[in-house]
This record gives sequence, C-alpha cells and structure tokens, in this order.
Amino acid sequence: KKGHYDHFMQKEIHEQPHSLTTTMRGRLKDHGVLLGGLKEHMKTIRHSRRIVLIGCGTSYNAALAVRPFLEELSSIPVTMELASDLLDRQGPIYREDTAVFVSQSGETADTLLALDYALENGAMCVGITNTVGSTLARKTHCGVHVNAGCEIGVASTKAYTSQIVAMAMMALAIGDDRISTKARRESIIYGLSDLPNKVREVLKLDSEMKALAESLIDAQSLLVFGRGYNYATALEGALKVKEVALMHSEGMLAGEMKHGPLALVDETLPIIVIATHDACFSKQQSVIQQLHARKGRLIVMCSKGASSSVCPSEFCRAIEVPQVIDCLQPVVNIIPLQLLAYHLTVLRGFDVDQPRNLAKSVTTQ
Ligand code: UD1
Ligand code: BG6
Repeated sequence: KKGHYDHFMQKEIHEQPHSLTTTMRGRLKDHGVLLGGLKEHMKTIRHSRRIVLIGCGTSYNAALAVRPFLEELSSIPVTMELASDLLDRQGPIYREDTAVFVSQSGETADTLLALDYALENGAMCVGITNTVGSTLARKTHCGVHVNAGCEIGVASTKAYTSQIVAMAMMALAIGDDRISTKARRESIIYGLSDLPNKVREVLKLDSEMKALAESLIDAQSLLVFGRGYNYATALEGALKVKEVALMHSEGMLAGEMKHGPLALVDETLPIIVIATHDACFSKQQSVIQQLHARKGRLIVMCSKGASSSVCPSEFCRAIEVPQVIDCLQPVVNIIPLQLLAYHLTVLRGFDVDQPRNLAKSVTTQ
C-alpha cells in the first residue's frame, strides 16, 4: 500500500496535490463554494454570536490557521479552544455559539467529550472530519467531510492541509452573503483551485529539505517563529519535528520573541523564521534582523526569489516557497517542514510511522 515509498508519512506528504483535489472536488464553483453538509444550517451559523474552533494536536493547528480569515470573511468573533482545556475549565459555551469540532479520526476522546458538553449547552455543533461514519460525524448537527483519503502515519500531514482547505471553504460559504468581500472571496477561490499545482511545486524541495535535515541531525532543539496566517505553521512545523524526529522543538508567535524566547538565542540553536510575503512581512524582517544581531543560527522561509533580500548574511539558509494568496500560504508553507521532520526522523533512525508513545487516535482521556 506504500507503493514506491518507504513510509506512509512520506507517501502521505507527497500525495497532497491529490488529497487537496479530492477535498475540493465538486465543492468549488466560480463564484462560491457548495458545501452540501452546511447548506441547511447556514442561516443559524451566520446568526451566531461567536464561532468557537475546537480540536487537539494537529487538528487544533489546522483550525488556528483558518481563524484569521474565518474572522475576516464572516465578521463573527472566532475563538480557539484546545478540547482538553475547554473541559478542564468547563469554559462558557452558549446557545448563540457555533462550535466547530475538528478531528481527523472523529474519535478523539477529548474532542468528543467537548462535543457532548457543547451539545448540552445548546450550541450549534459543526464537525470537520476525515472519517465518514465516525462518532464526531454522527453526533454533530452538520459538518464537512474532509475527504483527504485514509491517513495511516501517526503524524498527520495530508489531513492537516485538507482540514485547512475544508475550513477555508466553510469560511467562504459563511461569508457568501456579503457584497463587500466578494472580490476577496473570488481571489481565494481562484487560489484554492490553483493550490494543488503550487503544492506540487513546493514538494520539489524534498532533496533540499533532506540536506537541511542532515545539517540539523545533531541539534538539541529547533525553534520555529511565525505570526499572522503562519502562526499555526510554526506550531504545526514544530509539532511534526517533536512527534516524529523526537527532537525538542517549539513553535512560537514571533510577536512574543522579545518577551522571553530571545534569551535562548545563540550560535548553536537553529531557528526557522517564516517570512513569506504578507501583511506581516516587514515585522518578520525586523525579527530576522534582531536574531541576526544576536548571532542566531537562522533558517528563513521566504517567497520565491526573495532570499537575497531577506537573508541577512551568507550563513543564513533560505527555504524559498511559491507564493499564493496570503490566507492559503499556510498550506504551502507547512510542506517543507513536513519534509524536514520526515528526513530528520529517518536520518536519526527513528520509526517514522509509529513514533514512540504516540497513537493515531487517542480514544482515552
Ligand atoms: C455528499 C456525499 C458525497 C456525494 C455528495 C454529492 C456522503 C458522506 N457524502 O457530500 O458522497 O458525492 O454529497 O452531492 O455521503 N456531517 C456531519 N458532521 C460531520 C461531517 C459531516 O453532520 O462532521 C454531515 C453533513 O452535514 C452532511 C453529511 O454528513 O449532511 C455529508 O457531509 P459531506 O460528505 O461533507 O457532504 P457533501 O460534500 O454534500
Ligand atoms: C493524536 C495524533 O495525538 O491525536 C495526532 O497522534 C492528532 O496526530 C491528534 O493530531 C488529534 O487527532 P484527531 O483525529 O482528533 O485529529
């Protein structure tokens, strides 16, 4: 079933042009999206006072990637909840809320318990899941099947990008009644239709990421700084590295750098800064300058053709990625980090598809 690949994770990373295509199949129209699963409930969703995005692990990160433009397109406040934390706090969920539950397997215990809790509190409950017939799909009022195809590697890769795209389509559908954002929505729809091509292009970085992994094989730790649309990319890239390559890695909000993380910076600690072109670009340039001034071991992810202007010195490594519309850039940007985590794991001699102590689906609390 692995075809010519050595591992499922590797196969699933390279499958993404196809899995993204199946996620969008039959749902993308010239002037809007068609999500059969949400149609009947759209009025209730649009009238909700708040949208709460809930998940665990990679699914939470996918939701975080979508948050900025779900807010933008819906004009409804969007908040984030890790399922376990919502349960620990018994946080407020109201009848006027739309609670969106994101889970690849649809069977994660914390997510399902949070769903029971939101149902008891009378919220409109929407599921985003890759598993037809899962408990999440059955218990939610409505939802969207991610349709990424079966994912076997414990570390989620193709489900992550397809979850982002499924929720991007949800954001477009919710915002569909607003004239002021029509042009923006049309450019996102165009961006979605071209995304599989851009993902095919970024996958060509495979050997470059293997070379980068070779240079990082003995590192103790790896930091990833992102912000805006790519805050989630930083969290998810670091999560991939820690869960499969068993290397300490933290994803951080670049805006918080001066409030602590900067103390860690020295010549030995590798730091990836995500600085592709968007409204936060100049802020990321200044982050790069500050890390450079403290002799940080810099690796910069930037838009194609920008490395010479973004890299402060010849010692800074660049990962150049194709540019897409700002809000979809996280789908492209995570892929080199998935490849990096994969190659680091193989080089370090660890089990790629079954990382120690982890399970694909965590069905106990
Ligand atoms: C559906 C069909 C698809 C068919 C298409 C044609 C299924 C599973 N999907 O896709 O095969 O090609 O119509 O029009 O039969 N749901 C939840 N919670 C979730 C996820 C989904 O309640 O977490 C519900 C949806 O609200 C919907 C149903 O499951 O009622 C199917 O969802 P989805 O597969 O996303 O709908 P379509 O894309 O319309
Ligand atoms: C587990 C997996 O911890 O559950 C992760 O190892 C996954 O890869 C997390 O992100 C959440 O799973 P799900 O199925 O709810 O998306």
